[in-house]
Formats: sequence, C-alpha cells, structure tokens
Amino acid sequence: MLIDGKAVAAELRAQLRRSVERLMAERGIRPGLALLLVGDNPASQVYVRSKAKACQEVGFLSVVERLPAETPQQTVLEYIRRWNQSPEIHGILVQLPLPRHIEEQEVLLAIDPRKDVDGFHPENVGRLVLGLPGFVPCTPAGILELLRRYVGPLAGKHVVVVGRSNIVGKPVANLLFQKTPDANAVVTICHTGARDLVPFTRQADVLIVAMGVAGAIGAEHVKEGAVVIDVGINRVVDPATGKERLVGDVRFEEVFPKVSAITPVPGGVGPMTIAMLLWNTYRAATGELWSDR
Ligand code: GUN
Repeated sequence: MLIDGKAVAAELRAQLRRSVERLMAERGIRPGLALLLVGDNPASQVYVRSKAKACQEVGFLSVVERLPAETPQQTVLEYIRRWNQSPEIHGILVQLPLPRHIEEQEVLLAIDPRKDVDGFHPENVGRLVLGLPGFVPCTPAGILELLRRYVGPLAGKHVVVVGRSNIVGKPVANLLFQKTPDANAVVTICHTGARDLVPFTRQADVLIVAMGVAGAIGAEHVKEGAVVIDVGINRVVDPATGKERLVGDVRFEEVFPKVSAITPVPGGVGPMTIAMLLWNTYRAATGELWSDR
C-alpha cells in the first residue's frame, strides 16, 4: 500500500481553510506566518516558496524575507525581535540550514517560544521530551499523523528510527515513545555510528528513515510486512535522462514488494511537513497551546 501524504495534506489544508474562515468571523484573527530565508540554498528556496504558497491557500497572512548569504547574525536577530513583537505575526520560521557564520542555536533561542511553529526552540524541545504541551516539529508531527491514519495504534510496536537530527530523528523518537494513546511505541534509534544497520532495521515493525543519503536502505534492511516511512529528499541526476529528480533514502522499487505500506518520494512525508506547519501556525494564532501560561 502506498501512503499518500499528498492527499492527506490536501485534506488537512481544506479543513484548515474552513477553520480559518471561522476564526476570522468569530474572533477577527487571521493567522500570520513570517518566513526567513538567508542565502541561496536551492532546496531551501523551493521549501520557502512552497510554505508561502500553502499559507496563501488556507487564507493565512505570510511575510517572506529573503536575505543575502552574508547577512550579519545581528540583522537576522533584529527581524526575529520585530516579529516577536508584531500582533499580526503568530508564527516565525527560519529556514535551515543557515550560513556558517550564523549560530543556529542563537537564532532559534531568539524566537518567542509561543511563535516557534517549527518547535526548534529549546523550550519546545524540552516540552516534547517532558511530555508537556508545546509545538512539535512539523516533519515528526506529519509522520505521526500518517501512521495514525494508515497504521493505527502504535502501542507496543517496534519503531526503528535511522537518523538523529534535531529536525527529524530526535523529535520523532521522543514523540513515538511518549505514554500517550497515539504513541507508546518501543523505539530504537540508530545512526551512522552503527557498524551495521541491518540487524537493527530488520527488527522494525515501522521503519523511519531520515539519513539524507539517496538509496541507502534496500530490501535487505526491511522485515517482510513492515511499514516504511522515507523522510529523505535527495536530488540526483537520472543517468537515463540527464535530468535532476528527487529520490528518497529508500530504494523504493526494491522495498515496495516486501512491505505492507510505504511513503513515496515525492508525495509522502514532504507535503505533510507543510500541512503541520500550517496547523502549528493556526494553533499559535488561537493561543490554545499556551493556555497554561
Ligand atoms: N530545513 C529542513 N527542514 C526544515 C524544517 O522543517 N524547518 C526549517 N525551518 N528548516 C528546515
């Protein structure tokens, strides 16, 4: 079975568009997202454009600032401070990676945690680890939503995560082992430090691959009937056509016949990341997450 992230994301956007209309009619609030892109990383340019387009589609305000690669860190912090203060901006997103002269953690720390719709601020990271309400990073939230719809209860299932990034590996693992009704899985995290991934990945009922290495995972890595979530988005040149195309971390053709369900690339996890960003921004606008403050 193919896990159709594109279709689920479209459904979520349609729902959200109706919720936004209601929020504007009842409370006069239009959710607003500020997007900051520093430098000219081609993948980041595509992502930021897609995020701004998705905002438009659901009726959000979006503000996009594109700054040159040599922008000083101080300028980046000034944008964030201004958006922290702005009543029209409910969510702030700084597209990663940042140029090397800018300290990523300093920038993320400057974002008001109540506007941190990426869930990368240490306060939200801590909240996730502690099982407190907060913003959950978009890709892990999107993966959980796909698993909820296509796999059902994960309690007691063995999820193996390959990758330990702050954006995917660490947060998705933390989300899945929480003692909550839609998680409660047994989670193993492996990474490039493993001498051999196969003995780990073959135990997975659900295998989440976030390595960023094109075609790293093949049939030998997966158990018969497993569910595979491919988070990789890699640009490769197709030798047959000479053109660039997107491939995942999983060798799809080889793995597909062996598994019970798998996400394609593109059209799997990617669209869900953006849908969850929109949901996080909506919730930032309603203030519902922070009612405990
Ligand atoms: N770079 C790769 N993924 C992401 C993401 O989810 N958010 C941001 N801000 N940057 C990214």
